[in-house]
Amino acid sequence: MATRKEIMALPLTNVEKGAPVHFKNPPAAFFDAIGGEAGMKELMYDFYDKIYESKIAHFFPQDEDEFEKVKEKNTKFFVQICGGPKVYEDESKGMELNEYMIRIHDDFSINENNRIEWLGTMREALADKAQHVDIELIREFWDYLEKFSKLTVNTFADGSTYYAAYQQAKEDK
Ligand code: HEM
Repeated sequence: MATRKEIMALPLTNVEKGAPVHFKNPPAAFFDAIGGEAGMKELMYDFYDKIYESKIAHFFPQDEDEFEKVKEKNTKFFVQICGGPKVYEDESKGMELNEYMIRIHDDFSINENNRIEWLGTMREALADKAQHVDIELIREFWDYLEKFSKLTVNTFADGSTYYAAYQQAKEDK
């Protein structure tokens, strides 16, 4: 179990351009606790509904059918990255999942503020949809998001760009 207050207190740290990012994929125990594929869908659909109310809404398709596709793909990714069934396999074209995810984001100019907004939106979705999950499991899921999201930031305050190489991502198994 977790309280809204505990979830809203999940920590945020800053991106350092080019610095190695150590992260661990989320545990399968989180996937089970959120409620498997159905629970993950509920969390991710809520997250995307909130994204459309957020400061980063303009990054995402405005067309309803396209928006639906992003929701579906996003859910599949999170099912697989959390150790659930390999439902995203066809999308990632044989690439390692996290590497593929970094490259997907290269098409968008994402800065630190956008990342903070993305994470803040996810934290709200967790507060609404994950209170039945043990806080320690939520912390592990969050830890992955908080760290991995640093590799999606490619645009910096001085106007420069930097696209994370996959070897910058250190997966601690
Ligand atoms: C932990 C960090 C993140 C993860 C795991 C993640 C995951 C995903 C996934 C699974 C997709 C769908 C990919 C597909 O088409 O199959 C996606 C798309 C996208 N993400 Fe992220 N994301 C992260 C961070 C961010 C951040 C910080 C932004 C900031 C704006 C962002 C913006 C987008 C955009 C614009 C799309 C594409 C939507 C489209 O297809 O038009 N993401 N992301």
